[in-house]
Amino acid sequence: MNARLFFALTKPYVLRPLFRFLRRFNPIWPVGNYLVVSRYLDLVEVMSRDVEFTISQVNGPKLNAIDGPFLLGLDRGPQYDLEAAMVHNALPCSDLPRIAQIVNEEATRQIQAAWPARRIDLVNGYARVVTVRLIARHFGVPVDDEQTMAGWLRDIFWAVFLDPANDPAIMQQAVRSDAELRVYLEKAIADHRAAPVVPPADVVGKMVAFQAANRGLDQGAIRRNLGGMIVGMVDNTTTFLTYALSELLRNPRQFARAREAALAGDRDTVRRYIYEAGRFYPVATLLSRHANVDTIIAKGTRRQRLVAAGTTVVLGNISAMFDADGFDEPETFDIDHDSERLHFGFGLHRCSGYQINSVQIPELAAGLLRLSNLRLAPGRDGKMQFQGPFPNRLLLDFD
Ligand code: HEM
Repeated sequence: MNARLFFALTKPYVLRPLFRFLRRFNPIWPVGNYLVVSRYLDLVEVMSRDVEFTISQVNGPKLNAIDGPFLLGLDRGPQYDLEAAMVHNALPCSDLPRIAQIVNEEATRQIQAAWPARRIDLVNGYARVVTVRLIARHFGVPVDDEQTMAGWLRDIFWAVFLDPANDPAIMQQAVRSDAELRVYLEKAIADHRAAPVVPPADVVGKMVAFQAANRGLDQGAIRRNLGGMIVGMVDNTTTFLTYALSELLRNPRQFARAREAALAGDRDTVRRYIYEAGRFYPVATLLSRHANVDTIIAKGTRRQRLVAAGTTVVLGNISAMFDADGFDEPETFDIDHDSERLHFGFGLHRCSGYQINSVQIPELAAGLLRLSNLRLAPGRDGKMQFQGPFPNRLLLDFD
């Protein structure tokens, strides 16, 4: 399918009515070799049954064409367990206060730079810059040129996760960017090995120490997973913030409450507003899995269906977020909804960065919410502009 058409068709205003219809009349919908799942309980079932519904066939080929697998290209098994342990060990909760401080400092720096014009680009003047600086300051990968780094990460993300049309030009660009990123990451890892800090002070240091203490990780394991993490961080965080804040800006009553929380320094309440706003305009709209064996889903219900081995199961995450089986009164904006439950995946492959997200996203949002009279810039400047699937510019004005 043409990429532009695909992105147009995966916008919430198209997907939500379509999925409302499917949830009611055809909740498990076969389309060629695909099976589209729209109900909350069925999505949770597929993502929980990770031996029958696997991910290596979904992401593995593209990851292998670039730099080899990381967690999102590996199925349950000893290699997954070891690499997941390394990643989780490198992202402890005890680092969250330091992450919050870095994000706060860098966000403030960007706002100060925007102060004279009272105008800020939410994407490339704010969220993308701050997340790249977090890579430098907390992950331990020095960044010489922020825009180049952000560009490499975007190219790889696009090719692996957001190019259903398999455009060769997008893959070639990702391979070129990865070749440069790889040298960069290898150097950061080698520098940490040569001069280890005890206890390790950053993410790379923790991964290096973990590898030294655990047999079975190959030479590329740190690089592949470090690359996967930072690729997953920058544009995901930026897109999340851009979509959720634009949603909040359309809703003055909720916006005012979120602002009150930001002014009171109540980060958790800001998080609940921004996560709930993100439910109305989510980043991870569709996910997929590969049926490894013939099996049945929704067994014992009227919608029970046989899934043939080899089927690609398309999971309507955006649909499950609006299913009353998962969320009471789903059409209502309510910060008591547990919106976090589906934003970052579910089950084995749940996002390893979900705790960082719960600090970084509200810190970024709060920095902007605290500004006086924050609003979309007039005219075209205040309309989201895209580079392929990524929001690339959204200007906000303040007083
Ligand atoms: C708003 C920001 C983010 C969003 C929306 C997001 C979303 C997701 C989603 C939906 C998945 C599961 C994909 C699937 O099941 O097919 C996932 C997995 C993952 N994410 Fe994130 N992510 C974000 C930020 C981060 C950050 C900050 C990191 C690392 C620091 C990260 C690292 C990962 C990793 C390593 C996995 C794979 C986990 C596994 O397979 O065990 N992500 N993410």
